[in-house]
Parts: sequence; structure tokens; C-alpha cells
Amino acid sequence: MREKLALTVVVAVFLCACSEKARQVDAYDPARDYFSFANTEQFVTTRLALDLLVDFEARELRGSATLFMQRLDPDAMDIVLDTRDLDIAGAHVLLADDVATAADYRFGDSDNIRGTPLIVHLPEAAAGATEFRLQLQYKTSPESTALQWLPPELTAGGKHPLMFSQSQAIHARSWVPLQDTPAVRITYEAEIRTPPDLLAVMSANNDPLTPRDGEYQFEMPQPIPSYLLAVAVGNIFFAPLGEQAGVYAEPELLDASVFEFADTQEMLDQAEILFGPYEWGRYDLLVLPPSFPYGGMENPRLSFITPSLLAGDRSLVSVIAHELAHSWSGNLVTNATWRDGWLNEGMTSYLESRLMEVIYDKARVDEERVLSYQELLLDLETVPLNMQALAPRLDVGDPDDFQGTIHYSKGQLFLQFLENAFGRDAFDRFLFTYFDTFAFQTITTERFLDYLDENLLQEDSSTVSRADAEEWLCQPGLPDDAPVPTSQTLDDAKALAAAWAEGKIDITEIPIANWSPQATVHFINSLPAELDSDQLTTLDEGLGFSDTRNAEIGRTWFIQVAKRRYTPAYEKLERHLNRFGRGRLIAPVYTALAQNGTDLELARSMFATTRGAYHPLTEASIARVLDAEGIGSK
Ligand code: BES
Ligand code: ZN
Repeated sequence: MREKLALTVVVAVFLCACSEKARQVDAYDPARDYFSFANTEQFVTTRLALDLLVDFEARELRGSATLFMQRLDPDAMDIVLDTRDLDIAGAHVLLADDVATAADYRFGDSDNIRGTPLIVHLPEAAAGATEFRLQLQYKTSPESTALQWLPPELTAGGKHPLMFSQSQAIHARSWVPLQDTPAVRITYEAEIRTPPDLLAVMSANNDPLTPRDGEYQFEMPQPIPSYLLAVAVGNIFFAPLGEQAGVYAEPELLDASVFEFADTQEMLDQAEILFGPYEWGRYDLLVLPPSFPYGGMENPRLSFITPSLLAGDRSLVSVIAHELAHSWSGNLVTNATWRDGWLNEGMTSYLESRLMEVIYDKARVDEERVLSYQELLLDLETVPLNMQALAPRLDVGDPDDFQGTIHYSKGQLFLQFLENAFGRDAFDRFLFTYFDTFAFQTITTERFLDYLDENLLQEDSSTVSRADAEEWLCQPGLPDDAPVPTSQTLDDAKALAAAWAEGKIDITEIPIANWSPQATVHFINSLPAELDSDQLTTLDEGLGFSDTRNAEIGRTWFIQVAKRRYTPAYEKLERHLNRFGRGRLIAPVYTALAQNGTDLELARSMFATTRGAYHPLTEASIARVLDAEGIGSK
């Protein structure tokens, strides 16, 4: 068994889907979405109309979804849709004459990751139709993996409930029955009914002046993949950030949000100069409660944002640059399947860094480049070889787990490598044309590679071959000539960490007040392994790490606190775990506790008291870590 496993890994690494050979050797098809049941070669959806009631008491959305469909295969009579935990009450087919005919439907076999296929059989009346509408009456389950229903006490104001969706990667199917694959793009309209004092917002045309009457209409005229469908409802208010940009948040967070994200309009203006026209109308932010599981989510026209960015000094706004940049890489040109995630995330991380350079300065961005490079190097030590390629073969597993540092940081580094090789001007022209060429399309890594080859690699002066690019895309680790980001300020911080640990300088000589949070993060990560408890106390008291307002500094410090078993800071570590719900900020702290050889039970008891406040996806991923540790240590 073990040998067989090892062999599979070797084959997977060396026969990556990029090579023609691989496609012949086995049946892996890089253009196929293995994470959807939908029969998109026979039917495609072009538009969606939602009509939903938001019921906070029952924790469910109820109503109908109407799919505007085209039949590509004239003989096909069964439409397979993706669902998860949906209760379907009826299906009707509407033809051009608007007459509704009931359709038979049944569920297929469920799958832990992909959910349950819904198979709708077209009635005879629709036999010859190439276009029709399919209307499904349904309601969601309180356990919908896409929706979090927050009681008032988990919001900033504490008086009103709040709900929000998170559809990426394959959770849209748990609040709408549809073809849940990025290969299909749809426009949509929605009618959302809420309790009258609450506001609904969507990844669509939000009108800041809409009357707050509990009935909200939306239109999304640009075709989007299903993972960008998004809705949120709560005691949410709007404040402008510029002509085209604004922010929605609970009133308690609105002023802080306006201050923190004041540069958003400028980011948008600069992004258009660099990447091409912004195709989506307005760009607003929605600041959610702490349980929002990510730093940000690029829902079109309305990025969803974690409140942990509210550091008070605008130091964490690279996340905003990132989500905004997705308006090009991801939302405009979309990865064909989750296996091509680097096309979304790696490209966006690169654009983010370019945007941050224009808005702020290169030194600051170099710091961020070094930090993400360090995270990548750490990851490369633990990620299995067959998952280290940018575009590995992936036909099983949970797409939520694919989006690691490889997609983000190795992807960013690949594009940085190309920029260095061809020069910034030529590479910028390439990117500009790339977005224009593939606007509102989904593409595979193979398509990207062909385009790159035709438009850049084959230039006479090119020093990069197709094989070089394939090495990045298909092989583990980093090529020998991969760029190595550097930062003088981070080097200085690292040197001071060593000097202080060796007793050469006093804690008061560390110029932390002049440092960026990134430099502080690097300082903490550079501390030598052998520090005693007294030294850690001197550090914490002298530099105030445990009381930091900056979530990234807190994350970095409390990982060290847990690894080093610095128990005097455990109370504040627990406060950190209660304060934040973003997976990145808390999961590695739990992991460090669980793996320090002593504190697995403590990690479990801290988790037990606070897990109810986490998003179900975050909760499940931490539970997996803590359970796996238990098994491993028995
Ligand atoms: N699209 C992602 C969030 C995501 C990834 C959701 C995978 C579901 C599955 C978003 O754009 C993102 O990358 N967020 C990062 C921000 C960061 C890298 C600047 C995050 O949440 O940490
Ligand atoms: Zn992203």
C-alpha cells in the first residue's frame, strides 16, 4: 500500500497536466471541473433570478431561484445541478410563452465535499426548446456551509442579528441550486426581503440611498461565476470613500472604517491605469463582524472585509489592494477550475504588490514581499511534493484546502520572475492585453501558458523558454533562478533581534516606534529559538506585543508564545483567540499550542469555549487540526 502511494506521488509530480503526454497517459482533463456535478457540456445557465426571504428565526433563506438555461445538446433531457443541504419544494420549466410546466426531479448520491446532485428531468413540452427557464422553489438549511447567521451578541452593535454568505470555493450550492463551477458565467437579479429595520447588500448594484424598508432589489449586469454570488443582511450603513468607492459597516465601525480605508478610491484610480478599465461600476467594501473567515473576499462591486484590518494606522490595507485587484484577476479573467487557483490568487498577489508600490512606496512593499516569501519557504518544507506545483493535477479533495501559500506566493513570484526577465514595461503591456483578451472568460493554466508563450516567451530577445515556465507550473519547489525578495528594513530588524538576544543592545534601543508592523513581525520571527522566560518577559513588557492593536503582530507573537510555551502570556493569547475569527489569525496559534508537546488539552478547552463564535468553515478546520493531533499523539 505504502509503495503504491509513493508511486502515485512520483507520477503526479512528473506527469503534471501541463505536458501533452500526461493527458494521453491517463484520463485527467485539466479543462474539466471535478468539483461540480453539473453537466455543463449539455446545458449552460446564462442568468439567475433570485427571490428570497431572509428568516433569522429559522436561520433560512426561502423562495425561488430561476435559472435561464441554454441547451447545448438537443438530445439531453436531464439537467444536473449542484446543491448542498437544500430543501427543494418544486421545479417548473418556463418556455417562451411563459407557461409553467412541472418537472420531475430527484437527488443523486451525496458526496462529503461536493454535496448532492439535483437531477431535473425536462418535461416533454420542453423537448425541442434550446432556451428555457427552470424555476426551483427551495429553502436553505441552518447548516448551510455558505451562510453564517450571527445572533446580536456576535455583532459590533449587539442589538441586531446579521447574516452573510461566503460562496468561494464551492459553497454557493448551499444557498442556491445551480451549476456551481467557475466555468459558467451568469448575470443575476435578486429580490431580497428582510426584517424592515435591516439592510441587504449583494455582489451587485447596491444603491447607497435605497430606502430601508426590508425589500431590496438587485441587478448584476456583468456575467460572473457562481462563487462570486454574495449577500449580507444586518444593521449596516454606508459612508462614501470617494466618487465611486464607499464602505458599508455597522454604525459602530463606520468611522474607523472610513479612516482605515480612505485610500480605496485612489487605489481604484491607479489600478485602472495599470491593469485596464474597471468594468464593474462602483467599488464598495463591506466590513463584517470578526467571524468573517477570511481577510477579504472579492465579491464583485462589494468586497467583504474582516474587521481585523482596523488597526488604526492603515497598515493592513494591502488586503484591500488585493481584493480590488481581483476585479481584474479572478472576477474579469477567472480560473477555469479550482486547480487553476494560482491564476486568481497568484496573479492577484502580484497585482496587489504593484498597486501598493504606486499608492505607498517600494520599501513597504518589499517588506511584504519578503514576509510572503518567508511564509512560502516554510510551506515548502511541509506541503507534499505533488501539491507544490502551481497547477498540480487535482481531481479529488476539498478546493477550500487548495489555496495555500503555493498559489499565492509562488504564483506571485512566478509573475515577478517574468517581470524581471522581460522588463516592467513589456510585462505591463502583456498584462493589460491579457485582461482585455480574456475579459469575462474563464481560462485554464494551459490556456494561460499558450498565451504567455505566443505573446512573450517567443520574442527574439526572450531569455525564458516554455520549459522554464512549465517548471514553475508543474514542478515542486522553486526553480534555481527564482527571484529572492529582499528588504533593508527587515534585514535591520533581523540584525537587531540577534543583537538583543546576544545581550549586545538593550530593549530600549530597539526602535519599534519607527518600524512598520511588517518589520515588527519579522523581528519576532527572527528571534533565536533559545530564549528563556525572563527574556520573553523583557520583550513583551518592553515592546508591548501581547497588547498590540495590530492583528498580524498579534498572530506572529502568539504563535511564538505557544511554540515557546511562554505561559505568562497565555491569558492574552486566549483573548486573541476570542477576539478574532479570521482563520489566518487563529488557526496557526491553535496548531502551535497543539503541537508544543504539552498544551493540546489546553488548546481544546480554549477552542471549546469560543468555537461557537467562529464561522462554521473556520471551526471545522480548527477542529480537524485538534482532532488529528489527538490521533497522532496517541
Ligand atoms: N478569494 C480569497 C479568499 C478565499 C480563498 C476564499 C479561497 C475561499 C477560498 C481572497 O481574495 C483572499 O485571497 N483573501 C486573503 C487576503 C490576502 C492574501 C491579502 C485572506 O483572506 O487572507
Ligand atoms: Zn485573493
